[in-house]
Amino acid sequence: MTLLVTGGAGFIGANFVLDWLAASGEAVINLDKLTYAGNPETLASLQGDARHQLVQGDIGDAALVSRLLAEHRPRAVVNFAAESHVDRSIHGPGEFIETNIVGTFRLLESVRGYWAELPEADKAAFRFLHVSTDEVYGSLAKGDAAFAETHRHEPNSPYSASKAASDHLVRAWHHTYGLPVLTTNCSNNYGPYHFPEKLIPLMIVNALAGKPLPVYGDGMQIRDWLYVKDHCSAIRRVLEAGRLGETYNVGGWNEKPNIEIVQTVCALLDELRPKADGSRYASQITYVTDRPGHDRRYAIDARKLEAELGWKPAETFETGIRKTVEWYLANPEWVAHVQSGAYREWVQKQYSAA
Ligand code: NAD
Ligand code: TYD
Repeated sequence: MTLLVTGGAGFIGANFVLDWLAASGEAVINLDKLTYAGNPETLASLQGDARHQLVQGDIGDAALVSRLLAEHRPRAVVNFAAESHVDRSIHGPGEFIETNIVGTFRLLESVRGYWAELPEADKAAFRFLHVSTDEVYGSLAKGDAAFAETHRHEPNSPYSASKAASDHLVRAWHHTYGLPVLTTNCSNNYGPYHFPEKLIPLMIVNALAGKPLPVYGDGMQIRDWLYVKDHCSAIRRVLEAGRLGETYNVGGWNEKPNIEIVQTVCALLDELRPKADGSRYASQITYVTDRPGHDRRYAIDARKLEAELGWKPAETFETGIRKTVEWYLANPEWVAHVQSGAYREWVQKQYSAA
C-alpha cells in the first residue's frame, strides 16, 4: 500500500510524512516542487528509509503525476502542495493562482484518469484528501459564531481566494465525476519545521537574533491556533473514516490575539534562554504598518470532526507553544539553513518600509 503526498517537504506536509512513517509501514511517495518553502532537510531522518521517496516536481505536471500514479499505484493522494503565505500573495498573486488553482485542477485531472481505470474494489477504496484552510471562510467580527462547515466561502486575500477556488474544484470533481474526495479546513498551525516567514517562527527567530518583533496594526487580530501534529492526526482520521465528499473543519478552540501570542513567545524565551543583559524579549516588540485587507478574526468550530470521527487534539496551546519554542532552541542549524539569500530578500522586501 502506498500514499502519494504532495507538498510533503513543506511545514505541515513534512510533519505529516514524518508522523505517518513513524506510525505505519505504508510507503509514501512525496511529490514536492521544492519552492523556497520546501526543505528536504526536514526529511533528513528518512534518508535510507525505503518507505519514503521524495520526487521534485509540480502537481501541475500531468505527465509526471500520471507516471508516478501508474508506477506506484497509491491507494490515496493527500494534497498539501500550495503557495501558503498571505503576505507573499499580496506582493505577487500569480504563483498562488498557478499552483493553488491551476495546479489543483491539473492534479485532479491526473488523479481522475488513474482512478477511473482502477479495478472496482480499489476504485471504491481510493481517496483524494485535499488540505485546506479556515481562511476560505473570510473574517469574523467579535461575538460571531465560529466557522462551521456550512459557512459560506468569503475569501479576502489572494491566498484565501485561491484556496477557496481549489476547494470548489475538489467538490465539483466529486459531484460531477464521482471522485472520492475529502476536504479538511484547518485553522492556523504552529510547531516544528515552520518556515520563519509566519508569525510564530518569525518571532522566535527575530527575538533570538535581537531584531524587532514586527506586530501588524494594533496586534488585536485573532487567529485560532492548532499544534501541527494535531492537524496531522486529524488528517489521518479523516482519511481513514471521513464520509466521501464531506468537508471537516479542524481546530482546537484556541483563539488568541496576535499580541498575546508574541507576549507568550517572549515570556517562554525569557524563561528558557534569558538575555545576557537581563532585558526582556518583549522590549523588542514593534508595531508596524498593518497588512492590507487584514482579516480580523478566524475561529473554527470543529464539532463535526469531534462528533463524527471522535478526533481530539492532544496538545493545549500552552503545551504546544512550549514544545515549539523548545524545538527552535534545539535546532538552530535548521533555522540557519532556511535563512538563505531568498529568505533574506523576502524579509528585506516585507519589513524594510514597515
Ligand atoms: P508550506 O508553504 O510550508 O509548504 C508548501 C509545500 O508545497 C512546499 O514544500 C512547496 O515546495 C510545495 N509546493 C508549492 N507549490 C508546489 C507545486 N506546484 N507542486 C508541488 N509542490 C509544491 O505550507 P504549509 O503551511 O505546510 O501548508 C500546507 C497546506 O496546508 C497548504 O495547502 C495550506 O493551504 C494548508 N494549510 C496551512 C495552514 C497553516 O497554518 N500553515 C493552515 C491550514 C491549512
Ligand atoms: P501568518 O503567520 O502570516 O498567518 P495567516 O496570515 O495565514 O493567519 O500571520 C498570523 C497573524 O500574525 C496574522 O494576523 C498576521 C500577523 N503577523 C504579524 O503581526 N506580524 C508578522 O510579521 C507576521 C508574519 C504576521
